[in-house]
Amino acid sequence: MSLQIKKVCCIGAGYVGGPTMSVFADKCTDIIFNVVDVNVDRISAWNSDDLSNLPIFEPGLERIIRKCRGRNLIFSNEVNNGISEADLIFISVNTPTKTKGEGAGKASDLKYVESCAKQISKYAKGHTIVVEKSTLPVRTGELIKGILESQKSSIKSPTFDIVSNPEFLSEGSAIKDLEFPDRVLIGGSNKKALLALGEIYGNWVSKEKIIYTNLWSSELAKLTANAFLAQRVSSINSIGALCENTGADVREVARAIGTDSRIGEKFLNSGPGFGGSCFKKDILNLVYLANHFGLPEVGSFWESVVELNTWNQKRLSSIIMSKFNSVRGKVIGILGFAFKANTNDTRESPAIQICKDLLSEGAILRIHDPKVEKKQISIDLGQSFKEYLLCNQSKEFNNLKKWEKFSLDKELFQDTDALVILTEWEEYSKINWSVIANWMKSPGWVFDSRSIVDSKKILKSGLNLWRVGDGTLN
Ligand code: NAD
Ligand code: UDX
Repeated sequence: MSLQIKKVCCIGAGYVGGPTMSVFADKCTDIIFNVVDVNVDRISAWNSDDLSNLPIFEPGLERIIRKCRGRNLIFSNEVNNGISEADLIFISVNTPTKTKGEGAGKASDLKYVESCAKQISKYAKGHTIVVEKSTLPVRTGELIKGILESQKSSIKSPTFDIVSNPEFLSEGSAIKDLEFPDRVLIGGSNKKALLALGEIYGNWVSKEKIIYTNLWSSELAKLTANAFLAQRVSSINSIGALCENTGADVREVARAIGTDSRIGEKFLNSGPGFGGSCFKKDILNLVYLANHFGLPEVGSFWESVVELNTWNQKRLSSIIMSKFNSVRGKVIGILGFAFKANTNDTRESPAIQICKDLLSEGAILRIHDPKVEKKQISIDLGQSFKEYLLCNQSKEFNNLKKWEKFSLDKELFQDTDALVILTEWEEYSKINWSVIANWMKSPGWVFDSRSIVDSKKILKSGLNLWRVGDGTLN
């Protein structure tokens, strides 16, 4: 007999907690899912009547929220209450890279996880399954167990099982990834606890897709999956650079190697470099762990994946600048600011560094993104909140307007010297280049870092084109 789960609490209503619990609530109607967070604005956005105001944009999310919110899906700031009522608690808080102390710049900062564990130890009642949903360094289970057990004072004290259940969703396709996962990974030692979580997934995931491991394998498998994926992006980007210098075309190379079933065709798109909140932080965490366990060769092997990525982003800025004597005063349209299409997330987006590089050389940027808000761009570009308000309120402060957010219409394109495609939003592949070419300055440049435009149409319209992985096209 496995443990009966009636109430679930998820601590952290972010890019993982929100969509994950929404799909759980949709698939398991007899369980209450209480998503709690300390961030008041975030929770009120999750509870917003206007579903276009949800804090996260994910295709398909609105539909599920409409169906489940208020039924068996609750968003609230009542963290302690959520903990005391739950049979099973997901810890789904952020685990950023440490900025100070031992391991700064590489190791994961576990302060939010630790604080959750302390709250759980204080407020949990009876027997509770604590699930690591956040991505954690291998052996974090030990740390959590230590905190949970430190409060034990009598035989009436709450008891706990610790389970690892890392999340593999990708932003932009989170709902599909959750509804049709390649696999679900559940790690731990208590069979009843593992099966209790397995049964929840069993509502929509077939048994063969649920992998049970020990706690440490599960924790390490998540870091490893992200490291392998990021490694593929750096690998193809390194080959893309070589293609640009040799006349080879990275798309053709990718197709040629991807048909080898041992290599596979996915994750071979050369681009501006990987972004997102996970890859860099998780690889650096792996580097830290390797060094910590006395394996510096392993550490430097993985660190090179991040180094190649940083180099690739800088390379793109240099290529844009190399086409002009100077970009000072040049008007450049930036198409896409999110780190990938179909998300409003800009964390570690290559667009941030590339825009900063161009701004520091004196370019004037017109930025478009269908989902990223102007305020977020302002934060990412390091503009102070005061500057942001001044730019928006007064024409006198035009000198601060080195960049502006634009809609995707004539005003953006008019008299631009160049357009740089940084995110693969579908609308950019539908641009009518023969019209745009008339609005841009001549000779106008298009830099396609995502390889989504029709090169023939661009060249026919008289524009110059640089495309990732085959360079300048004539
Ligand atoms: P996020 O920053 O979007 O959300 C984390 C939330 O946790 C925030 O809203 C924050 O306010 C809340 N929080 C922090 N401490 C809290 C506390 N003590 N009590 C209550 N709430 C608290 O982060 P995310 O992108 O959802 O990532 C969460 C974890 O999942 C990370 O470990 C990440 O590596 C991992 N992960 C992320 C993704 C992704 O695509 N974003 C995918 C897989 C795994
Ligand atoms: C990643 C993992 O894929 C996911 O399993 C994990 O749970 C969280 O981290 P995410 O960061 O949301 O997901 O997106 P992903 O699709 O992996 O893309 C990451 C970055 O790599 C993006 O900037 C994307 O544009 C880039 N990328 C991806 C490429 O440049 N080329 C590719 O072929 C694939």
